[in-house]
Amino acid sequence: MEKKFKRTLVTCALPYANGPVHIGHLAGAYIPGDIFVRYLRLRGEDVVFVCGSDEHGVPITIKAREQGVSPQDIVDKYHKIMKDAFAGLGINFDIYSRTTSRVHDENASEFFRKLYDEGKFITRESEQYYDVEAGTFLADRYIEGTCPKCGNPHAYGDQCEKCGSTLSPEELIDPRSRLSGGALEKRKTMHWYLPLDQYEPWLRDWILEQHKEWKSNVYGQCKSWLDGGLQPRAVSRDLDWGVPVPVEGAEGKVLYVWFDAPIGYISNTKELLPESWEKWWKSEDTRLVHFIGKDNIVFHCIVFPSMMKAYGDYVLPDNVPSNEFLNLEGDKISTSRGWAVWVDEYLRDFPGKEDVLRYVLTANAPETKDNDFTWKDFQQRNNSELVAVFGNFVNRAVVLTHKYFGGAVPQNLKPEPIDAETLASIIPCKEALEKYIETYHFREALKEAMNIARIGNKYISDAEPWKVAKTDMDRTASILYTCLQICADLAIAFEPFTPFSAEKLRGILRVALDAGMDYRAGEGRPTENFFTEGEGAALHTRRKGKMLIVPGLPLLTWNQLGESEILAPGHKLGEAELLFQKIEDDVVEAQIARLNTIKAEREAAEAAKLAEEKARTIEPQKEEIQYDDFARMDIRTATVLEAERVPKTDKLLKLTIDTGIDQRTIVSGIAEYYTPEEMVGKQICILANLAPRKIRGIESKGMILMAKQGDGKMRFITPQEALVNGAVIN
Ligand code: MF3
Ligand code: ZN
Repeated sequence: MEKKFKRTLVTCALPYANGPVHIGHLAGAYIPGDIFVRYLRLRGEDVVFVCGSDEHGVPITIKAREQGVSPQDIVDKYHKIMKDAFAGLGINFDIYSRTTSRVHDENASEFFRKLYDEGKFITRESEQYYDVEAGTFLADRYIEGTCPKCGNPHAYGDQCEKCGSTLSPEELIDPRSRLSGGALEKRKTMHWYLPLDQYEPWLRDWILEQHKEWKSNVYGQCKSWLDGGLQPRAVSRDLDWGVPVPVEGAEGKVLYVWFDAPIGYISNTKELLPESWEKWWKSEDTRLVHFIGKDNIVFHCIVFPSMMKAYGDYVLPDNVPSNEFLNLEGDKISTSRGWAVWVDEYLRDFPGKEDVLRYVLTANAPETKDNDFTWKDFQQRNNSELVAVFGNFVNRAVVLTHKYFGGAVPQNLKPEPIDAETLASIIPCKEALEKYIETYHFREALKEAMNIARIGNKYISDAEPWKVAKTDMDRTASILYTCLQICADLAIAFEPFTPFSAEKLRGILRVALDAGMDYRAGEGRPTENFFTEGEGAALHTRRKGKMLIVPGLPLLTWNQLGESEILAPGHKLGEAELLFQKIEDDVVEAQIARLNTIKAEREAAEAAKLAEEKARTIEPQKEEIQYDDFARMDIRTATVLEAERVPKTDKLLKLTIDTGIDQRTIVSGIAEYYTPEEMVGKQICILANLAPRKIRGIESKGMILMAKQGDGKMRFITPQEALVNGAVIN
């Protein structure tokens, strides 16, 4: 069902403003989204690229409470960090706004209100946990208890972070409030629900019949949700952080974060284009594409479309390309456990290497299954692909052109069939690249771009212009002419993937690229033409509605990719410059060491926590006895006179004891807890009339009384004040 669209609206999931962006976010949604948008712009399509921070939701309020600041403080902090991180990586949203904006507040309210007025919601009363001490209903996240699946005593009411199970507060054993630590009570509360069950037949047709082309992981998840049967979903919550429910009698209630956040896509478009946003959201000619991570699939494929269907006028997504998860060095990425590579830190630690991360995360993207990011792979791909193939090829071509031809593209004086064949072999790469991007297979698309570099690298290695130059300058001219055409191909093909390096390459080649029109070009504003001299200006063409043309610099277009002559003979190149730098072992080792420290610290903290919990486990009381049973035991005070280790054992001490009755030997398993020196001179309590036993060949008469905790830690018992030895204890 190929449809022709006039414009494309691309969104990336609005990330929660409760932590910085990490590589998992990038690989899941933001880099693929940016590649897609850059590609469409190169092809001259009308695109708007929308994102922003998702600033509501319970985790933000929890973080604020933990840090003793307001939720607004939290979102202000992370909104800035995330916005800068995206910009730093060249992810060029047309707008990056926030769900605490005024426009969004109004827009989300209006959306709810229309559905409310038209009777699209149902209401339900339910019993929810209420924290009496704090005087508030509790979100599932605010409830803590023991996980019924794995026994983790700190599971949350929505999820156990230890075993990953999804839970409901009802399933928790011993639920308690994370807010006050106090007991919970069930109270009745009323909420609005979107009756998703009513949309099920329509969703089945729309997704399962009409969108069979969606990626199999997305389609599969939708199918299993639909097959499981849809239930009405609450769209409001008892909470004081969010968009207030805009109806009377809804005090203390806000819109559920997953109701307001996707409306944020619309709000942000509205903020960007107050006059013309409707064209992007309410016209059949718009192709809407949501880039998301896999945990967002149900919301973007089932819930939000149902909301838009209920509202009436909005377009539905044409596709929802979603990736699976990226792991880090074999472990699940986790913000709360600190197991991540944070983008702001990467940008600080690897200045000028934005493209390396973009490249690696695309080459290794978790497109069809979960995938792993490792620093070794990062280094390897940089050194043996970006440096050794792409960078090396370009450098050889440009340096030799300067050496033999004064930096001008030589005439194709003595062509051989291999030259034209090589250039022609780039056309299938271009076609495959287009096909892959258009079907959201960015990993494969990048391989095709890289193939162009491989073709170039192989061609120059086989043709050996540095040798040919000794005997045949005309042939050398043809070889370098061919190489430079391939360099120009690379300057076009890599723009979506590694925009910084593509731009640098264009500087070296002294060409500009028509990077497409942006949203304002279609706004009826005339495209301004700028004629500037500077080099830098040439590199951004037609960005932000401005067409930058530098006289004399060729303006490349996507369509030229694969053409036999992109750079004309005589065209002057800029200076040679390395596109990529080798990454040394110590650099990645420092990153690995940082992760190992995080892991070791976490493991130590977990072990300490576990030990503490173990220490607190109290053994149940033993079976009842009579006084006589006790009275038969002769327990007395005694003093340790000598102590030594029992040879070849870890646990045993041989003690010589003054019991007041006699001096005797007791062998005791306390060497783990006391050194012999610590024992000498100590007053202790012993069971004196225990039948003698031989332990390691030593006769032991009696037993030292010890108190033992759940974790095994032991301490001997000593009278509260020194007594004579032999005093009877009862
Ligand atoms: N904040 C959500 C997350 O990080 C994504 C929200 S996407 C939106 O998982 F559509 F709701 F905006
Ligand atoms: Zn669990």
